[in-house]
Amino acid sequence: MTTWITVCDTCKRDGWETGDMELTDGERLAELVEAEVNGESRVRVRRMSCLMGCGKGCNIAVQGSGKVAYTLGDFVPERASAEAIANYARLHAVSETGVVPYRQWPEAVKGHFVTRHLPLPEE
Ligand code: FES
Repeated sequence: MTTWITVCDTCKRDGWETGDMELTDGERLAELVEAEVNGESRVRVRRMSCLMGCGKGCNIAVQGSGKVAYTLGDFVPERASAEAIANYARLHAVSETGVVPYRQWPEAVKGHFVTRHLPLPEE
């Protein structure tokens, strides 16, 4: 079953305006995550403008149908963040419930979890 990574493409971290301002920090992170999971079938990436966690950018969500979903924030838009996000999503994808044991978490996602959400009940 596919795990989706949703990357906020409008996040701007503190100091963003002191850079070249060509891309938002969220767009930079989205590009890196998209490159990381390019072509994979179990993990896919989409963008959304504002996940409503603006004070803790860069923000992402990890979701899969029928699984526990997570939001994570405060990522720096760099390759190490993208690798960790993609590796965590791969583990989420192979987990039956979406729960990934802490001992398996990539180091660079630790401390970035903001919320988790139970899957909706079957009707
Ligand atoms: S701009 Fe990224 S969460 Fe609002």
